[in-house]
Amino acid sequence: MPSKFTQTQLSDAHNALQSTLHKCQKIDLTKQAPAQRTLLERRIAALKIALALTEKEQHTMAERSSTAYEICSIDAALREKIQPILDATWGAPYIAVNNKLWDSRIMPGFAAVQGDEVLGYLLYELHSGLCEIMVLESVVQNIGIATALIEQVKQAAKEHDVCKLIVQTSNDNTHAFRFYQRRGFVLREIRLRAMDTARQLKPSIPLAGEDGIALRDEIEFELEL
Ligand SMILES: CC(C)(COP(=O)(O)OP(=O)(O)OC[C@H]1O[C@@H](n2cnc3c(N)ncnc32)[C@H](O)[C@@H]1OP(=O)(O)O)[C@@H](O)C(=O)NCCC(=O)NCCS
Repeated sequence: MPSKFTQTQLSDAHNALQSTLHKCQKIDLTKQAPAQRTLLERRIAALKIALALTEKEQHTMAERSSTAYEICSIDAALREKIQPILDATWGAPYIAVNNKLWDSRIMPGFAAVQGDEVLGYLLYELHSGLCEIMVLESVVQNIGIATALIEQVKQAAKEHDVCKLIVQTSNDNTHAFRFYQRRGFVLREIRLRAMDTARQLKPSIPLAGEDGIALRDEIEFELEL
């Protein structure tokens, strides 16, 4: 299960939990009324559980961060490994973007690979003088894989004399908004109700996306290279 948190967030949470626990432990239980004593004891127990879970997650993250992986161009063997991951996440090998259906099975791209395992992948298309990121997914999140894949596609675009990267995401994907903007991408276009057309092309697109938000609009970001 990928972590939803960065190491900084986990470390901040750990510090906050620890200081709250110390404060609670300083309170003299013998001076509390029975109901308040029970409440305090429950709070202390809950804080200890939260601390233990945070420490476990920090440990897992530290192990993942030391995980060595390499970024490779996608060849036939890698494509075989990526396709089931892609199909499971996106519901089909076809990607519906900007009123068009694209076949992911023939797109060039890069993968983050560790031994036999694919930790993430990025597929792109060069068209209309642009380089468009068609699919980006990290199987193991928050250890820099998507950032490394973006660096690689920037390089590929420059080698093809393309000076702009674009990417589309849906209105529910607030994590992706943050991720792309943190990497210098800026808003290029918002296509209201684009999912209605996309669903005609790819009926398996669900009605609700991340956090139960209605999947409705397409948001395009761009990055000048
Ligand atoms: C959006 C997505 C691709 C990001 O992938 P990711 O591999 O987790 O991204 P990264 O690890 O490069 O960066 C995520 C965070 O981890 C942090 N991070 C990276 N390496 C780290 C490390 N070694 N130690 C601590 N933190 C690290 C980064 O700083 C970043 O935080 P920031 O944005 O505040 O700077 C991923 O969440 C995903 O696959 N989502 C589902 C599919 C999706 O929505 N795709 C995009 C739609 S177009």
